[in-house]
Amino acid sequence: MKCLVTGAAGQLGQETVLALQAAGEVVIGIDRQELDFSQPDQVAEAIAAHQADWVINCAAYTNVDKAEQEQEQAFLVNRDSARAVAEGVASYGGRLLHVSTDFIFGGEQSHPYAEDDPANPLGVYGQSKWEGEQAVQDVMPDAAILRTAWVYGIHGHNFVKTMLRLAAERDELRVVDDQIGTPAWTADISRALLSLTKADASGVFNFTNEGVASWYDFASEIIANARDLGFPLKVKKISPIPSVDFPLPATRPAYSVLSKVKIRQALDYPIPHWRQSLTAMMQELSRPR
Ligand SMILES: NC(=O)c1ccc[n+]([C@@H]2O[C@H](COP(=O)([O-])OP(=O)(O)OC[C@H]3O[C@@H](n4cnc5c(N)ncnc54)[C@H](OP(=O)(O)O)[C@@H]3O)[C@@H](O)[C@H]2O)c1
Repeated sequence: MKCLVTGAAGQLGQETVLALQAAGEVVIGIDRQELDFSQPDQVAEAIAAHQADWVINCAAYTNVDKAEQEQEQAFLVNRDSARAVAEGVASYGGRLLHVSTDFIFGGEQSHPYAEDDPANPLGVYGQSKWEGEQAVQDVMPDAAILRTAWVYGIHGHNFVKTMLRLAAERDELRVVDDQIGTPAWTADISRALLSLTKADASGVFNFTNEGVASWYDFASEIIANARDLGFPLKVKKISPIPSVDFPLPATRPAYSVLSKVKIRQALDYPIPHWRQSLTAMMQELSRPR
C-alpha cells in the first residue's frame, strides 16, 4: 500500500509516517515547504501527482486561539484545502482518511458525543474544521474521517510538554478543571488510522484513548509520572481552577468526550486507557534519544 501523509512535520503526521514505515508500507510525508495549504488551488494537483492508495490528511491550522484573529487562514487550510485534498484523491480514485476534531462540538452534552450528534462549533478553528469535514464528504462521500481530541505525543508541541516545562520552572501550576474530555496519544491515533485503512473504512469515526479527564486530572497525572520517571521538577502544588480564571481568546467546549462505541467495533484490539498511554509516552520521552 502506498500512503501519502500531509502535515508530516506535525505531532500526528510525524508519528503516522513512522507507524506506516514500521508496518512496511510505502509512505511519502509532505510538509508545508512542499505544499502550502493556504493556497488551495495548488493542492488537488499536487496530491493527485503521488497517486497514493491512501491519503491521510493530518495537515491543519491548529492554533485554536490565533484562529480567532486569522480566520481567513484557518478556513483556507482547514476547509478549502481539505476540499482540495479530496478533489485530488477523487480525481484518480484513491482513498482518503481525513483527521478532524472534538472542537466541532459545543460541549452542551453530559454524555459522550456520538459521530452523528449535531455539530455546534464554538470558535473559528472548530467551525473551519467542521466545514472541512463537510467539504470532504461533499466531494468524496466514501471518505473516512477520524475525529480525535487532546492530542499529545513525542513529536511537536503539546500539553504534556508544556506542563513538564512549567513544572520545572514554577512552584505552583494552576490548571482548569471544568473542561472534560479525553487525551489521545499520537501513537494510539496512528495505530487506529492504520487499522481504518486496512479495514477500507468509510464514514466518520471518533477516536481518543479510553477514560475521561479534566485538564487538571491530565496535568496531575503528568506530574505523577514525571516524579516516578525522574524528570526535573520544581512544582510543589497543582491547583484546580475554573476556566473563567484562565481566559483565552477562543471558547472551548466544557465537555467533549467522544463516544468510541463505533470505532471499538472497527478495531481488533482494545483501546488503551489514557493513563496507561500517558505513562508509555512519558517513559519513551524520558529515554535518551
Ligand atoms: N492538537 C490537538 O489537540 C488536536 C485535537 C483534535 C484534533 N486535532 C487534529 O489532528 C490533526 C493533527 O493535528 P496535530 O496535533 O498533529 O497538529 P500540528 O502538530 O499543529 O500539525 C499540523 C500540521 O499541519 C501543518 N500545516 C499548518 N498550516 C499549513 C499550511 N498552510 N500548509 C501546509 N501545512 C500546514 C503544520 O505545519 P507546520 O509544522 O509548518 O506548522 C503541521 O505540520 C489535525 O487535523 C487537527 O485538527 C488535533
